[in-house]
Amino acid sequence: MLRIIVIVIIVVLIGIQFVPVSKTNPPVTGEIQAPAEVMEILRTSCYDCHSNESEWPWYSNVAPVSWLVISDVNEAREHLNFSEWDSYSAEDKAEDIEEIWEEIEEGEMPLWFYLPLHPEARLSDAQKEIIRKWVESGGPES
Ligand code: HEC
Repeated sequence: MLRIIVIVIIVVLIGIQFVPVSKTNPPVTGEIQAPAEVMEILRTSCYDCHSNESEWPWYSNVAPVSWLVISDVNEAREHLNFSEWDSYSAEDKAEDIEEIWEEIEEGEMPLWFYLPLHPEARLSDAQKEIIRKWVESGGPES
């Protein structure tokens, strides 16, 4: 019985690898402009989800993990996409800038489950301070 269950699980796991998925990196149409030290933080800690320059890790090729990764990236881009920043209204930009600091201050971003696999994305106090100052000084000129 156990053997049959194991075989069924293996067959299902193999089968779902053939479900088509679309991992996309659309063109960068209007990237956010910020001082180099801010850009470095955003690129290292946020861009995999909030940009069109996602680096897709190996496990994003393996279902069902791939489904989760892709849906997170799509959702993250919908909320905030640093590669399409120019398409936002001045009002949306101002709101997003505020929210960037709120999410970081509350420790909500980067998403916790991303960090064990991307330890370099964890923000140090010094990096948080750089973001806080940037946000409080108004962020990028819009
Ligand atoms: C592993 C993917 C991932 C990473 C990395 C990530 N985010 Fe997010 N982010 C999301 C997802 C998914 C959402 C939408 C769902 C939610 O709010 O939890 C989101 C939402 C947001 C929002 C919008 C919240 C709202 O209510 O509209 C902001 C602002 C944000 N992220 C900022 C950041 C910043 C700044 C970083 C880098 C320090 C970052 N995120 C890193 C996945 C990510």
